[in-house]
Amino acid sequence: MTLKIGIVGMGNIGNIHAQVYKENPKVELVAVCDIIKERADRAAERYGAKAFYSVKEMLASGIHLDACSVTTAGKENGGDHFIPTMELLEAGIAVLGEKPISNNIEEAKQMVALARKKKIPYAINLNHRFTPAARRAKQWVEEGRLGSINMINMRMWINNPNESSPWFHLRALHPHSFDVMRYFCGDVKRVVAFMKKGEGRTIWSNTQVLLEFKNGVIGTLTGSYDAGGAFGLERCEVVGSKGRFVLEEACEHLHFYNRFSIESETYNYLGGMRSFSETFKDRIGVWIDQLSSGASYEEIDGSGLDGLKAQLIIEAAIKSWETGSIVEVEEVEF
Ligand SMILES: NC(=O)c1ccc[n+]([C@@H]2O[C@H](COP(=O)([O-])OP(=O)(O)OC[C@H]3O[C@@H](n4cnc5c(N)ncnc54)[C@H](O)[C@@H]3O)[C@@H](O)[C@H]2O)c1
Repeated sequence: MTLKIGIVGMGNIGNIHAQVYKENPKVELVAVCDIIKERADRAAERYGAKAFYSVKEMLASGIHLDACSVTTAGKENGGDHFIPTMELLEAGIAVLGEKPISNNIEEAKQMVALARKKKIPYAINLNHRFTPAARRAKQWVEEGRLGSINMINMRMWINNPNESSPWFHLRALHPHSFDVMRYFCGDVKRVVAFMKKGEGRTIWSNTQVLLEFKNGVIGTLTGSYDAGGAFGLERCEVVGSKGRFVLEEACEHLHFYNRFSIESETYNYLGGMRSFSETFKDRIGVWIDQLSSGASYEEIDGSGLDGLKAQLIIEAAIKSWETGSIVEVEEVEF
């Protein structure tokens, strides 16, 4: 039986979700919703779905929905997710939200708590970890191929000239970076952060964050909205007692270096995934497969809780820079 899907927020990313759903035979895209009427109407025509102009109206129509993408944006790219997500979860509809889960921690907690209370699958599009290369690297970590993990070095940077708020770079970009770091090394205990405003900028557009994970692994994040372009977006290196891997551009190149040998291995475009843009198909495919197989709230990969935990690391980094101190990452209990 195909799953009936809706999308709330028909901007650039909502349309990417729509194209992925249209190509997935396990789902039917039945509803598209945007408060800007023309966007909803244009999407409805393009994808053969029904247009709605608010979540309330969509729910009141009685249309059957198994799940919705929430691809709104707002302040720091996350301020608008809260209300539509709460309305959908209240109505018992599974939600795949865009990152950041929210730019506001209290709202992020409320969404995760509601999904948990009602046992409704709630996921975040943490798509950088949804690549065949990341899965291979994770398997190496779990099998002990790297030995005992000592360090992780993450770099994520893009050119983004927007100046919307002092913490825009941290809150909007680095949910991805910290999620990938958690994927390989687990929960983070404490952080210390340094920041710098790029030339002519008013926001903290460059950062270096030092992290200590709960398992004792130590790591760094190099992040920027003033770099990238020809230099690439992303590089993740995990260093263990027996070897290390380097994962470039999330899916493009994976290298393994044995600490005790000069031989190395390189895997290019594992699983045929050629570029970052293809991560949406993989991530949404996993979400649909999990929903189709009846996965419970707790089993969801890239969950709301994962989204919240990434955001809590970001808030600790901000606090560290503001106070000039090492900051413990807040623990969440539900
Ligand atoms: N995962 C990724 O790789 C990735 C990449 C880029 C952006 N994003 C995220 O995707 C999200 C969307 O980004 P975008 O560039 O498409 O934004 P956008 O501003 O182009 O689109 C958002 C749309 O949501 C609509 N909207 C806002 N509130 C609404 C509501 N309550 N009900 C219905 N519609 C509503 C707006 O009218 C707008 O059309 C952001 O959270 C951003 O951080 C994710």
